[in-house]
Amino acid sequence: MKEHARTLHHLHERPLSALDAIFMRRSVTAYTPQPLDESTVRALMDAAVQAPTATHTEPWAFIVVQDRAALERISDRAKGSWVKEAAHYRELHAGADAAMTSAFVERFASPDFCVFYDASTLIAIGARPLGPFVVADCWLAAENLMLAACALGLGTCCIGSAVPALNSPDTKSELGIPSDVEIIAPIIVGVPSETATEVSRKDPTVLSWTRAE
Ligand SMILES: Cc1cc2nc3c(=O)[nH]c(=O)nc-3n(C[C@H](O)[C@H](O)[C@H](O)COP(=O)(O)O)c2cc1C
Repeated sequence: MKEHARTLHHLHERPLSALDAIFMRRSVTAYTPQPLDESTVRALMDAAVQAPTATHTEPWAFIVVQDRAALERISDRAKGSWVKEAAHYRELHAGADAAMTSAFVERFASPDFCVFYDASTLIAIGARPLGPFVVADCWLAAENLMLAACALGLGTCCIGSAVPALNSPDTKSELGIPSDVEIIAPIIVGVPSETATEVSRKDPTVLSWTRAE
């Protein structure tokens, strides 16, 4: 374990076990304005890069945004681009809860709504799209990061709706992201200001289970 990760463990009395974090993690959409310090952000990235990676490629790279004005600018771009993007996914939304979908659309229309829920920190994971497993590698790193944050009492939420805006030339040039790097997994992180809502899960669908006779 790296030195700053060890320091972080001392800061938190008793980090949750892996299973506790898996079952307790929920997407957090309300945050206090408290900023995250550099050692916390580094500890989360260290946890992220412990994820499995196809042929040990470790293709990921991290973009950290802790400037509120920049987050608001990207949010505004995201709100504009997501409305167009969402039109391509009508079928997917048709299967979702109608009230939830319309609440989502309504939120995106509100000028006050920030797609990053006013979280203090955005950690976006991206990579050069060089192989078939780069996307999987980035998402596995993202889940590690979210579980580590949960174990330490921090909140996170994937912000898929910001992907097109983060990959726009304007945002890439503003944040210094090379044009051939694709942002795949944007995760907000912060101190939760309220307990996240319980979200149920369907039982696992098992299509086939072959056992020896
Ligand atoms: C790929 C991906 C994209 C997501 N994008 C968003 C988003 O743009 N905005 C948001 O509020 N939540 C987003 N979420 C969070 C999901 O809505 C959330 O994970 C889901 O409702 C289950 O709730 P839970 O994470 O609390 O278990 C995203 C989750 C994933 C995995």
